[in-house]
Order: sequence, then C-alpha cells, then structure tokens
Amino acid sequence: MKKPWGGRFKKKTDSAMERFSASVDYDQRLYAYDIEGSIAHCKMLAKCKIIAAAESKKIVVGLNKIRKEIESGRFVFDAALEDVHMNIESRLIEIVGPVGGKLHTGRSRNDQICLDVRLYLRHETCEIQRLLQRLNRALFAQAKKTVDHIIPGYTHMQRAQPVRLAHHLLAYLEMLGRDADRLWDNLKRIDVMPLGAAALAGAGYPLDRAYVAKLLKFPEISHNSMDAVGDRDFMIEFCANASILMMHLSRFCEELVLWSASEFDFVELSDAFTTGSSIMPQKKNPDAAELTRAKTGRVYGNLVSLLALMKSLPMAYNRDLQEDKEALFDTVDTVKDCLEVFGGMIQSARFKKIPVQRLESAGFLTATEMADYLAERGVPFRQAHEITGKAVALCIESGRQSLSELSLAELKAMWPKFKADIFDYLTIEGCVDRKNVYGGTARKQVMKQIARWERKLKNN
Ligand code: ARG
Repeated sequence: MKKPWGGRFKKKTDSAMERFSASVDYDQRLYAYDIEGSIAHCKMLAKCKIIAAAESKKIVVGLNKIRKEIESGRFVFDAALEDVHMNIESRLIEIVGPVGGKLHTGRSRNDQICLDVRLYLRHETCEIQRLLQRLNRALFAQAKKTVDHIIPGYTHMQRAQPVRLAHHLLAYLEMLGRDADRLWDNLKRIDVMPLGAAALAGAGYPLDRAYVAKLLKFPEISHNSMDAVGDRDFMIEFCANASILMMHLSRFCEELVLWSASEFDFVELSDAFTTGSSIMPQKKNPDAAELTRAKTGRVYGNLVSLLALMKSLPMAYNRDLQEDKEALFDTVDTVKDCLEVFGGMIQSARFKKIPVQRLESAGFLTATEMADYLAERGVPFRQAHEITGKAVALCIESGRQSLSELSLAELKAMWPKFKADIFDYLTIEGCVDRKNVYGGTARKQVMKQIARWERKLKNN
C-alpha cells in the first residue's frame, strides 16, 4: 500500500515497525468525527477559494460514501496506512481520483487528530452526563422513599449517630452532582476548534477558521497553533473528573456490598444486578458493585498513564501523543458501563427498614444526646462527655444494650439533676430530629434538600 507520506522514502517500512506505529485498530472508532471534520474543512477550503466548489462537492460526496462503507462494514482498514486519517484519505482518492488529494490542503494530521478527539469527547461527555442524570434520578427517587428509614451513621466504621437513610443517599447525590458540574465545566476546554494549527506553526493558507468552528458548532477556536497540537490537558482533565466520579461510585459500591451482607442486611439488590455462585446455591452476590469498585482502579490508571505520557514532552506534537487514545477510550467506555449498571442497580434496589430495636440494641447511638442533655443544663461539655461515658460503661458491665435501659435512679447517681425528660432524648427518632441545623439529618432538613434536588433535577 502506497503511503501518503512516502515521497522521500526509498526503502519499505519494516513490517514490525508498521505494526508498531499503527493506531488504526483503535482510532478507527473516530471515523465519524474524522469525516465530519474533513467535510467542514473541505467546505471551508471552497468558501475561501483555495479549492474549486466543484472539487469540494466531489470530495464531500466521496467522504459520505466512505462513511456508508464503514457503517455497513464494507470498509477494510489497513494497518499499513497507520491511522484512521490516512485510511480514509486513501480510500477517498480511490473513489474520487486525484482531486481527493486536495482535502489535506492547509491541514496536518496533528491538528486533525486533535479535532477528532475533541469532537469525540464532546459527544461522549454528553452521553456520560445523560447516564449520570439517570443515576441521579434513581438515587433521588430512593431518597424520597426512605426519608423515614433510619440507619446507624458511622465514623471510623463504628456506629456513631443515627441518620435518615435519605440523608445518606442525598450525600451521594451531592457528590455525583459535583461530578456532573465538573464534567460540564470541562466541556468549555474540550470545545475549542484546533484546525488551522496544521503541523505546529499554523496553516500557510488564508483559512477561515471561524467558519469551520461554526460548521462544527465550536464556540471557540484555539489561540496558539503549538498549544493546539501539543497539549492534551482537556483530556487529562476529563480523566481526572472521571476518576473522581469513579472514586465516589466505589465508595457507594463498598457500602452496598457491606449493606447487602446478612451482618448488615440494610438492602436487597435486585436479581437483575446480582449473580449466583456455581457452588453455593444460597448465594446472591453484589457483583455489579464489586466490579464497579474494581474498575475504579483502571480509570485511575488511565489518568496516571496520560500524566506520565505528557510529562516532560517538548513542544509541539510528538508521536508519543498517539498513545493517549487507548487510555481515553477505556476511560469513556468504563465510566459509561459503570454508570449504566450502577444506575440500574440503584433503581431496582430495595432498602430495608431497620427495626428500632435493632438500632437501639448496639452501638449506643444516642450517647451524644445524653451529653448534649447535660451540656444544655449547664454541665461543661467535657464533663458531660465523661458522665455519659460512665453511663455507657455501666450499660456494658451490666449487659444492657441501650442507655434508655438505665433507671432514673442509676442516672441520678451519676448526675443528681437528671430528670425523666432525659428519656425523650434517648429515642432514636428524637435524636435524629434534633439535628435540625441546615444540612442536618432532621426530617425537616432532609425534606428541604429533597425539595431542592427535585428542582435541580427538573431544571436539568
Ligand atoms: N495517529 C496520530 C495520533 O494519533 C495522528 C497524528 C500523526 N502525525 C504524525 N505526524 N505522524 O496522534
């Protein structure tokens, strides 16, 4: 196969080198963006009278034909032609004749690949947003259903204070909401049109770059040709945002794995998102959560790959940059798969109501309330903490599971001014609803946040 750059070469490329330098196996997925970009470039060349209108039309017809060939599976990609760009260009010349060779006027593969990848990432960012929205809606619906479910809240993985399950779920909605914001914000830096930068110095033709940007719906064009072909920060930023998103999902996954274990028994995941064991008939495994948790690692890995790839690279374009694509594609694919499965898993999960006796029976969830009771009555908080600690110790020594099982006489022995109203403080529900500060877990506050998310999700 004759190489488009073959003019100055006398010897054939070594076959190992050919395989080594080819990216078409994976960059062929950019074909639609490559063709869309080429059509815009070609129309602009005609508009600027750099090529004739009739030539431009011919090229556009050829490009559309190639698109159909690829979509119907008839197109044969050839590794000898390195990448998606040269495969399409060679075929174009086959179809329309030598005039196809005019398409590349004022353009280099260096700015072409940047354009393709920016178009691709813009599209995929929107796809990811759509999947993230779906997950967020599912999460919101579950929060709405579980306002009156109370669970133990944990710190250090030890029972700490009771919280509403909805509050816990809304915490994830906050995190995922920020993830969505970050991805949108990244779009500003993805959505920049690089064509015209050519190899590195800018094209030597009077190109109408704004016109290309308009055709391809870019709000901005790049301001420096070397930056345009040489940097990949928009991609690294995307991978960083994806990593943060996956980090959030992995935390939630970890909890779902724990919560679906019989020791917790807070949730039942649907059969549709769990799998069985080939040996133990009773098992229903939370694989969707486990796999999402695991895939977080490779998304981090992709981010680190890109950072390492870019480290110390001199300006402007270097062939190293070809190695950016697999990390990017894998990140996009992984995040989309995870969001899709995770969204379905959340939507179909059944969160169980934990009986109050179970909440009262371990962990002394209301201990802080007793300390607050004392502090409200003038006992310095440190001393209140100490008295309550003694009460907890007494319970443990005497085999009682909850502070509310102590008698008023026992309490008075520790602090004489205890009155019967202490027992109102020691109920789980009362304890939750006293956290009535903005952002707290009291029913009133949780309802406020539910209303806020209802508005937010509607506006999106
Ligand atoms: N396949 C290349 C890449 O992905 C396209 C640009 C190649 N440019 C070059 N001068 N070899 O980066």
